[in-house]
Amino acid sequence: MDQKQLVEEAWKARERAYAPYSGFAVGAALLSKSGKLYTGCNIESCAFGPTCCAERTALFKAVSEGEREFLAIAVAGAPAGRRDGGLTSPCGVCRQMLYEFDDGSMTVLMAEGEGFRKTTLGELLPLGFGPERVAPSKPIAP
Ligand code: THU
Repeated sequence: MDQKQLVEEAWKARERAYAPYSGFAVGAALLSKSGKLYTGCNIESCAFGPTCCAERTALFKAVSEGEREFLAIAVAGAPAGRRDGGLTSPCGVCRQMLYEFDDGSMTVLMAEGEGFRKTTLGELLPLGFGPERVAPSKPIAP
């Protein structure tokens, strides 16, 4: 799967967004090193706080299926029903959560108009607080 296709998968995942409160629909497509694709959309709550972003939905789906290593994530966001030209970059909470599973090479593709902007998680979260600071090796399931 190439980068353009991954961004397109994020746009497709966005169609399933549940965003009745913000009216802002987001989709994400996460590619694991094993070659599998995990998609997610934002899922809002009437209590607002429990809302889950598209990126974390995709990440939690993947990790709960046994994945821990990822190549890239694509994000596509725009007001519901439109595909406007703006750029949606992962929020701070999602950056931190993705950092948990980044070996320093994760590519982040952010849809922008009909194209996309390419960056890395390291660029989005410089000097991030990582798991190695807390535990010498990554915790595994008990
Ligand atoms: N949102 C995402 O899903 N991903 C982001 O990177 C930015 C924000 C969602 C959360 C909320 O449902 C809506 O967009 C407006 O903030």
